[in-house]
Amino acid sequence: MPREMEFRRIPGLPPYVFTIIDSLKLEARRAGRDVIDLGFGNPDLPSPQIAVDKLAEAVHNTRNHRYSASRGIPKLRQAAADMYQRRFGVTLDPETEIISTIGAKEGFSHLMWVLLQPGDAAIVPTPSYPIHIWGPYFAGADARQVAIGDGTDASGYIDRVMEAWEYGWPKPRVVVLSFPHNPTTTIATKEDLQRLVDWARERDVVLVHDLAYADMTFDGWRPPSIMECDGAKEVAVELYSMTKSYSMAGWRVAFLVGRPDVVGALAKLKSYLDYGTFQPIQIAATVTLNEALDFPTEVSAVYESRRNTLCDGLDRIGWDIHRPKGTMFAWARIPEPYREMGSIEFATHVIESCDVAVSPGVGFGPGGDGFVRFALIENEQRTGQAIRNLKKGLTRLQ
Ligand SMILES: Cc1ncc(COP(=O)(O)O)c(C=O)c1O
Repeated sequence: MPREMEFRRIPGLPPYVFTIIDSLKLEARRAGRDVIDLGFGNPDLPSPQIAVDKLAEAVHNTRNHRYSASRGIPKLRQAAADMYQRRFGVTLDPETEIISTIGAKEGFSHLMWVLLQPGDAAIVPTPSYPIHIWGPYFAGADARQVAIGDGTDASGYIDRVMEAWEYGWPKPRVVVLSFPHNPTTTIATKEDLQRLVDWARERDVVLVHDLAYADMTFDGWRPPSIMECDGAKEVAVELYSMTKSYSMAGWRVAFLVGRPDVVGALAKLKSYLDYGTFQPIQIAATVTLNEALDFPTEVSAVYESRRNTLCDGLDRIGWDIHRPKGTMFAWARIPEPYREMGSIEFATHVIESCDVAVSPGVGFGPGGDGFVRFALIENEQRTGQAIRNLKKGLTRLQ
């Protein structure tokens, strides 16, 4: 037996939030129970047919089997630029202001490497999508967690970010933003983002906006890109992913756009790290962006209808929650009669007595305790069944 190894970077990591939920769910399923999974945010709708067809065609061309371009093939970057023009009215130079990444998660993690080193700090929201907190830590830097609020709007978070920056030392080099926000579903207006851009232009700080839910929005509301703000290219970069908008989670296609020196720095690092996404996937993604124009709206309509089933149902059984305007989640304060339990104990109780899996809020950071997250990943019939189970199992609700 080799001596026990001491690992770097991972020892401080708590078990990934989705792993905790998964093992509870597996245990219940092994015991023969039909657990309705509203835990993990893994999109369940199929990818666009055009993406599948183009991938199948491109994979037969042996020239596409070789290493591809780490920064993304030119036509893919052009397709992303055209999408930004159509969708947000933003003009981007596909040569200097766009690179492709292997999903937003990879792009974000490596971006932290070029922006941060030991001794530096980033401001990140709490609760947060886990990589937003761990990305700065993996780069050896400090992640200063700032409370995002209860999910209603972004203005309080923005005030707290500015305060944390003014009073913190060393001055944070990065501010992490992500609206619509996972897990809290907080949304930001263009005015909110402009306020941050104006503020950042006076300071030595980079705004990193993860726009993973760009198109997954409800009630006719459309989230802004930070790149729509005046002066954004001086201070901001943004991640746009095909995971949610095009239901292409497994394909790993996203983009980093915006401030050219930052985009160029990540391109340089990635040229050492990877050879890009498999070329047939890049070709299929290009055609999808150019041709599947209505797909994001259709996907969003499906999630909106699930949101209605979930929120109307929770309302009926006496669980009052904030109705999300975007993302594929609902962020729910633990109902008053159960509040003293905390989110892990409550999520465990929900699996055990209702056969419904939800994510405990504390898994997204200490700011998330007191809440659970529902993912809108089951169809309406199953979501309706989940509501009936909750009504039956949560006996203290009235
Ligand atoms: C805020 C946020 N960013 C990024 C991702 C992952 O995106 P990708 O699949 O492009 O890595 C998710 C997925 O849940 C997310 O919620």
